[in-house]
Amino acid sequence: MAEIAQITLDGPAASGKSSAAQGLAKELNAYFVNTGDMYRALTSVVLSKGIDPETQPEEIEKILPEQDIRYVSGEGLELLLQINGQLAQASQVRSPEVAAKVSLVAKVPAVRQWLVKRQRQSAELGLIVMEGRDIGTVVFPEAKFKFYVSASPLVRAQRRLVQEGEVSEGATVEKVAAEIAKRDEMDMNRAVSPLKPAEDAIKVDTSDLPLEEVISLMATIVRKGLS
Ligand code: DC
Repeated sequence: MAEIAQITLDGPAASGKSSAAQGLAKELNAYFVNTGDMYRALTSVVLSKGIDPETQPEEIEKILPEQDIRYVSGEGLELLLQINGQLAQASQVRSPEVAAKVSLVAKVPAVRQWLVKRQRQSAELGLIVMEGRDIGTVVFPEAKFKFYVSASPLVRAQRRLVQEGEVSEGATVEKVAAEIAKRDEMDMNRAVSPLKPAEDAIKVDTSDLPLEEVISLMATIVRKGLS
């Protein structure tokens, strides 16, 4: 299956789209790109420079020309995220501080332009599964396969709670649900590329579906479409 095609997965935070996208890529021998990690990587740089994304969005735009955030090839189909020539560490991109501010960075129009350009370049690799918020609507509107992955707010909060490093110590389901709701609100209502299903996306509710079933459902659809 070496055909060049893009498979897009969009959806809200902790909807299960990363695990599904990763599993699908493995199943199809495709590359996997997590675009949320690119926004997170940039956010970690912004915070390390003492820029407040809430009050200084113009400072973020100013530092963009000196930054280099990209996926580089690892072993086989593996892609590794680099921040200015260094491998991104989970502690950098998955920290509660970054999680709390990333939506503010992601709503800066110049940031989106800058990262979308880099995301489109990955398409040159071959069959690719890319997940995010605007992949089917903005990054690859012509993609052959689009999925919109969602889950109930409670299920999403429970999932986030068990993800290591993502939440602060002593976090409760209620607190995490409130944080996720705040992030959804920002992601869905921003002026540029808000989170929404593409008109031609297939909607998958993962609340009651085991991960393997989600992957198998999507893989079947893609295989049928490619054959
Ligand atoms: O998928 P995630 O939770 O790692 O994404 C982190 C943030 O980045 C999220 O608040 C929305 C933003 N994001 C975006 O705006 N567009 C994308 N394509 C991917 C992520």
